[in-house]
Amino acid sequence: MSNKKLDFSEMSRAELLDLAKTYSWVHVIDLGDGYKTPGQWGRGNPQISKAFDAIDFRGKRVLDIGCWDGQWAFEAEERGASEVVATDLISQRDFTSDRTFELAAALRGSKARYIPDLSVYNIESLKEKFDVVLYMGIYYHLKDPVRAFTAMRRVMNTGAKILVEGAVIVQAGCFAKFYYQNQFCGENSNWWVPTPDCLRQWVECSFLETTWEGEIWGLGDNQRSCLVAQAVKRRDPLYLRAPEELEEFNK
Ligand SMILES: C[S@@+](CC[C@H](N)C(=O)[O-])C[C@H]1O[C@@H](n2cnc3c(N)ncnc32)[C@H](O)[C@@H]1O
Repeated sequence: MSNKKLDFSEMSRAELLDLAKTYSWVHVIDLGDGYKTPGQWGRGNPQISKAFDAIDFRGKRVLDIGCWDGQWAFEAEERGASEVVATDLISQRDFTSDRTFELAAALRGSKARYIPDLSVYNIESLKEKFDVVLYMGIYYHLKDPVRAFTAMRRVMNTGAKILVEGAVIVQAGCFAKFYYQNQFCGENSNWWVPTPDCLRQWVECSFLETTWEGEIWGLGDNQRSCLVAQAVKRRDPLYLRAPEELEEFNK
């Protein structure tokens, strides 16, 4: 029987754990009974833990965009979030026949709501507002990363926090490299890779203000950074005219 047809609610815990052992995982997730998924990306850099520590999740509505197996959505739950919505656009990732998020959620007793087919560009179609947005490992996979920050600002309450994590080019100056005919880190799914200064400006031109920035990690071309920013509503003197979709925050 195809995995897609399995009803997890009718399977025993032992059957679910056996199924988990047949899946391909990118995240390390504790599924209980001493079993952690063998995620190929490891537990995540300590800078990511520091970024999480810079956010108070208690009682907050959290949106995890591009959640893949769900490690960061579950982390938000563990840190006391009152509600978690985890979205993905699984047409853009590998191992799509393995229902990793749903299986992990079932085994962990997670209450997170999972939406596997929602692009960040269309995030407003949720018609919901959030106190925390997790936006990890996504912007460099987009052709239009600035548009995505605008879309996310529109689903954030003023004062909400966003955690942005991803690839950077470590050079002074504000610029980004575009990869189409050449690959970044050996992958065709990468489009724009900014310097840290450029990333900060992409974030901040959508009424988001950086409140915490971590140290850069990684080697060679494969360097990454993370920052936390807060959604603000205030006159931005750097705009002659704010774009229509941001005008409501330019007060
Ligand atoms: C590098 S993985 C990051 C997974 C996870 N957020 C993390 O940090 O470990 C990229 C994720 O972005 C998702 N993705 C790609 N394009 C997207 C888009 N336009 N909107 C939302 N998610 C997207 C992929 O499906 C995948 O889950």
